[in-house]
Amino acid sequence: MDLSGIDLSAVPKHMACVMDGNGRWATQRGLKRTDGHSAGEEALLDAVHGALGVGVKWLTVYAFSTENWRRPTDEVRFLMKFNESLLVRRRDELNDLGVRIRFIGRRDWRVPRRLIRRMDESTELTKNNTKLTLTIAFNYGSRAEIVDAANAVVDAGGPLTEKSLAAQLYDPEMPEVDLWVRTSGEHRISNYLLWQSAYAELVFIETWWPDFRREHIADAVREYQLRERRFGGLNS
Ligand code: IPE
Ligand code: IPE
Ligand code: MG
Repeated sequence: MDLSGIDLSAVPKHMACVMDGNGRWATQRGLKRTDGHSAGEEALLDAVHGALGVGVKWLTVYAFSTENWRRPTDEVRFLMKFNESLLVRRRDELNDLGVRIRFIGRRDWRVPRRLIRRMDESTELTKNNTKLTLTIAFNYGSRAEIVDAANAVVDAGGPLTEKSLAAQLYDPEMPEVDLWVRTSGEHRISNYLLWQSAYAELVFIETWWPDFRREHIADAVREYQLRERRFGGLNS
């Protein structure tokens, strides 16, 4: 992996990725949309290698949104099964790489029990790893997360502040997003990490997700390092 031009002392701590374009990738090849999701597995593993190579400590990927239930039943069913089997196929490898696997998202009745079991097993297996935290956003929607968090604060008797709300997000340990990336050329946020990305740098990549590789991580970090982050203030 080519790290030239990257300042390794100023790498984003938390990189978030919208893995988009699987369907178009497949359709363009005359394949089924679900073949695109399958092909995305290799891209995900490569992205993990990219994050490890550059030294990003938190990588969060969008695997299924609260709005994706609107897709045809067959595709939804495929995605449930696929994500479950992906965890079984890949968790030992990720564990060996020192990756800590976590999940964010709503665990409602629509998410199959078996998948939830695999999620919990993967989290448990990898909980002591320290090289990289890979968070998989599944049945995730930012508005739902914020509403759930606000309700939790209110139920506990308040007061509702930025700090008390942040403490009730799905993973209170998750740092703010520094670098927010979406593949497939779409310039949309799609309800992803709204709270955590308040001051994230946004990078849009034309590549469809199944073609994403570790080099794209390096490219995104190079782009990130060209930006001037101000957080509302002025840099002298
Ligand atoms: C992203 O790829 C994966 C999921 C949303 C699960 P898409 O399935 O959205 O692919 P396009 O955007 O239709 O090409
Ligand atoms: C966002 O992509 C969700 C995931 C990548 C899991 P979508 O393809 O669902 O988003 P829209 O519908 O184009 O906004
Ligand atoms: Mg899409």
